[in-house]
Amino acid sequence: MKQKPSSQTACLTRNMANILNLVLAAAVCSTLAVALPRDLATSWYSLEAAKPVNVTLYFESLCPGCHQFILQELIPTWEKVKDTGLMNVTLRPYGNAIEEYKGGQWKFVCQHGPRECDGNVLEVCIIHYHPETNKQLEIIKCIESDFYATEGQDWQATLKKCASTGVDVEKVSACAKGKEGNVLQHQVALNTGPHKWVPWVILDGTSSEAALDNLLKAVCEAYKGAPPSVCNM
Ligand SMILES: *[C@@H]1O[C@H](CO)[C@@H](O)[C@H](O)[C@H]1NC(C)=O
Ligand SMILES: *[C@@H]1O[C@H](CO)[C@@H](O)[C@H](O)[C@H]1NC(C)=O
Repeated sequence: MKQKPSSQTACLTRNMANILNLVLAAAVCSTLAVALPRDLATSWYSLEAAKPVNVTLYFESLCPGCHQFILQELIPTWEKVKDTGLMNVTLRPYGNAIEEYKGGQWKFVCQHGPRECDGNVLEVCIIHYHPETNKQLEIIKCIESDFYATEGQDWQATLKKCASTGVDVEKVSACAKGKEGNVLQHQVALNTGPHKWVPWVILDGTSSEAALDNLLKAVCEAYKGAPPSVCNM
């Protein structure tokens, strides 16, 4: 059974935790989302190959819900669609961290402590040195599994354990330890927009809560072209 990131595992921003308490205390009226029947919608699709849906994930290296989403939703979905041109994945490890420029470098404070910052910059460097999605996700899958299981105690040991994925251990290690990783992490911070919690998924610029439950379905719905057969669910 796949466990979706729930209120227990999602990592709320501090503001959002307060807002949620207020929302729970009030009666909420929401509009009903009206779903278009697929056969009606189909006639609107262009027959030209559409651009892939840009899937952007904000996450943190030690956030339980992020870990679950990456291993149980993102990577299995990618495995199904990688040859279809349906989605384009961008990972942004930073989430609810904060940063400050001090003493000539960026100092980060991470939601789950300093080890999470180690994991974030490690993943930032992996993403930088392995931009191709297949390879990147193969490495991230290994890193996420080991780093999380060991509570982020030794990121360098985690990196070495994942050497068999083909990760460039030397470059990534030097990056994560030095100025390069520090600057790259700051860029990810700048590219982390407003969000209420992590994992936070953005499909073509619009945040999607539905994607947390069923990424494939959400991506298929966001796709502007004729949906590939993997979308026949
Ligand atoms: C995929 O996303 C990256 C940003 O991470 C962007 O630079 C690139 O143009 C996108 N590719 C397509 C085909 O949309
Ligand atoms: C995905 O992002 C790239 C780069 O920003 C952009 O050129 C492209 O149009 C986006 N794709 C869609 C479907 O919005």
